[in-house]
Amino acid sequence: MSQLFWIADLVKKCPLINPSLLAADFANLASEIRAVEEAGAKILHLDVMDGHFVPNLSIGVPVVEAVRRSTELPLDVHLMLSEPQKYVRAFRKAGADLITVHIETLNDPRPLLEEIRGLGAAAGLAHNPPTAIEKLAPFLSDADIILTMSVTPGFGGQKFDRTVLDKIAVIKKHAPTNALISVDGGIDTHTIADCAKAGCHLFVAGTAIFGASDYAEQMRLLESQCRKNIQ
Ligand code: DX5
Ligand code: ZN
Repeated sequence: MSQLFWIADLVKKCPLINPSLLAADFANLASEIRAVEEAGAKILHLDVMDGHFVPNLSIGVPVVEAVRRSTELPLDVHLMLSEPQKYVRAFRKAGADLITVHIETLNDPRPLLEEIRGLGAAAGLAHNPPTAIEKLAPFLSDADIILTMSVTPGFGGQKFDRTVLDKIAVIKKHAPTNALISVDGGIDTHTIADCAKAGCHLFVAGTAIFGASDYAEQMRLLESQCRKNIQ
């Protein structure tokens, strides 16, 4: 599978912290984005929820469009939707550079991952904590990013589920070397080192960054924990 040049570039910059805007101040989104850019962010994570696949609602296409207008950073759009195939085109048009869909919503994720790549975006495949690694394993070569959820998706600020560390280690062992291995949920200065040890490169963090008084200092702390422990 050939890789998009900017994803290959991003892999080289890893480990990277991926701020999740879900925890940002939505009344001041543009200044929040500027603040994390100034703090060193190289990518932004946007959580899209449908109130069906997850018991919560968040943002949709117009907000992704608005974020696109306020930054040049790659936008990593995490679709927590029961029917992601209905929306990938719209999110790509809105400016998503990376589109992640959940394996729990698809019998065979390959056609949709291919469609996402055909639209010119990188394709991500996410899996929830209770989803068996055997369900994901056949598709590890079909995605640019493998996203392990380390909380039940739907809400920020939840406790990190340590049971996912074994799944991350299996992914690290079997995924192609150029795939980005990412983790999302409960990432902070206490949990990030174990994720790096297990094999993650890209760390989504919402509350840990936007809940901190100094974003740059928090990004530095998280990054240094990664660098000390990365595999
Ligand atoms: C949860 C979302 C996460 C969320 C993480 O369903 O997918 O991206 O923003 O938030 P924290 O870092 O607060 O756990
Ligand atoms: Zn997310």
